[in-house]
Amino acid sequence: MFVDTHTHFYDEWLLPDAEEAVQRALDAGVGKMIQADVDSRERTAMWEIGNRHPGVLFQMAGLYPGSVGPDWKEELALAEQAATTRDIVAIGEIGLDYHEGKEYAREQKEVLRCQFELAARLNLPVNIHLRDAWEDFFEVLSDCKHLHLRGNLHCFTASYEIYERANRWADFSVGIGGVVTFRNASLPKTLERIPVERILLETDAPYLAPVPYRGRRNESAFLPLVAAQVAQVKGLSVQEIENQTTHNAETLFGI
Ligand code: NI
Repeated sequence: MFVDTHTHFYDEWLLPDAEEAVQRALDAGVGKMIQADVDSRERTAMWEIGNRHPGVLFQMAGLYPGSVGPDWKEELALAEQAATTRDIVAIGEIGLDYHEGKEYAREQKEVLRCQFELAARLNLPVNIHLRDAWEDFFEVLSDCKHLHLRGNLHCFTASYEIYERANRWADFSVGIGGVVTFRNASLPKTLERIPVERILLETDAPYLAPVPYRGRRNESAFLPLVAAQVAQVKGLSVQEIENQTTHNAETLFGI
């Protein structure tokens, strides 16, 4: 059995046939899937589908950096409320994203800091979304080293040095998805050096579909394609990758 450690069945691109997509994932051997939260606008839909599949779908709660805007204080309070009143397995997806600009950089850092404290208070792992913001991330993370955070760097495509730096101040695994199947990716070289005990599989569906579905809608059923590529890079069998990454996910998220 595989575990998809980061997916979004409630996304409007996937929602129309989310039930069928859950079934296709189960048929493909993906027995557990963790939905990453983004903000209050989509949280209800996440819980609706999540509640229909106990023991199969698991949920995170958190405010996504791309959703940090003028109403960030209310959104942060709602994310905290979800985290403290719902049955969740992680705080996520949280982080920093300066891809669309740095207008809310200060607020994003404040929101991240608050959610790191929340994760520590609840003794939950964090699921990290990072884009074009590693230096600021390390600034916040080093300030929070006393929290002894653990978690996962979702959609990891950075260098081995970045992986090492992140692990100076917290305990991080890496989430590997469809990008590892893209032919021009430098990721395989990095992945060779990261211990298999620190690798988690994910789709980030409906985004980042693996080859041969690249550019199309992604879903959890495609996770074995990611596993096959990771197995090739690590020189292990798909079965070994399946067993190890499932063990890693079950241990980190307590599922
Ligand atoms: Ni995501």
